[in-house]
Amino acid sequence: MSELRFDGRVAVVTGAGGGLGKAYALLLAARGAKVVVNDLGGSFDGEGADSTPAQKVVDEIKAAGGEAVANYESVSEWESAQKIIQAAIDTYGKIDILINNAGILRDKSLIKMEIADYLKVIEVHLNGTYFCTKAAFPHMREQKYGRIVSTASAAGVYGNFGQTNYGAAKMGIVGLMNCVCQEGARYGILANTIVPTAGTRLTATVMPPDVVEKLKPEYVAPMVVYMCSEQFQESGKIFTAGGGYFSRAAVIEGQGVFFDTGAEVTPDMIAEKFDQIKLLEGGREYSSATEQTGVVLSRMI
Ligand code: NAI
Repeated sequence: MSELRFDGRVAVVTGAGGGLGKAYALLLAARGAKVVVNDLGGSFDGEGADSTPAQKVVDEIKAAGGEAVANYESVSEWESAQKIIQAAIDTYGKIDILINNAGILRDKSLIKMEIADYLKVIEVHLNGTYFCTKAAFPHMREQKYGRIVSTASAAGVYGNFGQTNYGAAKMGIVGLMNCVCQEGARYGILANTIVPTAGTRLTATVMPPDVVEKLKPEYVAPMVVYMCSEQFQESGKIFTAGGGYFSRAAVIEGQGVFFDTGAEVTPDMIAEKFDQIKLLEGGREYSSATEQTGVVLSRMI
């Protein structure tokens, strides 16, 4: 098996001062990539700032013979997000890989959640991913090459109690990447989403210490790094990784039921056919909204 290499490639990893982002940055650098290690360095719930975590990761990469530069800007504002991408351009002349990973948590049930905690989580995860992607895209388009991996969560894809802000942001990121995939296709820009599971300071709030210890971020990093490689050719896909488990998740649409559009369709007719309407057996995955609409139009009665 030949080793996947990133020599000559430039990567930006947001939130790379610890946890998963650090594991991605270390592995990419070990495989030859020049890495912008971005991290605001705040608390797990997004308070404060500290340049130490990003700088430490850069020191570790350099000590191992790799190339990296630290950046301490926040992903959550357009102006600062542009500076993160600009750090790659100024230091290394380009950007080939963007890993949108920075994140915080502010968990509370829907009723108890402050509006500020909803907005803050959306700002960091969804807006941060949008801003960094928007800033990186023109550079990738010009060179006709790019790999973007953004971070969703099982909390968004499948739901989780107390995480309405986080779940909304994370599933929003899936929608964002589905569209970036369409816009990037003709320029060699691939956009995918990772759903990780790892013991980090974020999950330490909900997982027992021995599970946190076992679920090392290093078990997620190989998948994400592969998704950033030239060899990887998928786009618009969701992959999961964690604890030695790797898989693909997708939105599946059932075969559905077609009624005669020339006649009235009543709620009672829907109720009568509902068992068939909700069936997923024989269903399929669509690669774009256009494809899905095309199939519906072609089958209209
Ligand atoms: P972590 O807390 O160790 O890492 C997140 C990093 O993002 C921190 O170093 C933090 O300082 C940085 N950050 C926060 N706000 C920032 C901002 N505005 N700008 C720049 N950097 C900022 O947590 P972990 O677990 O490594 O999380 C990484 C990503 O993976 C997050 O997006 C998280 O939501 C996601 N995730 C993690 C899961 C897990 O099992 N650990 C599960 C599902 C998703």
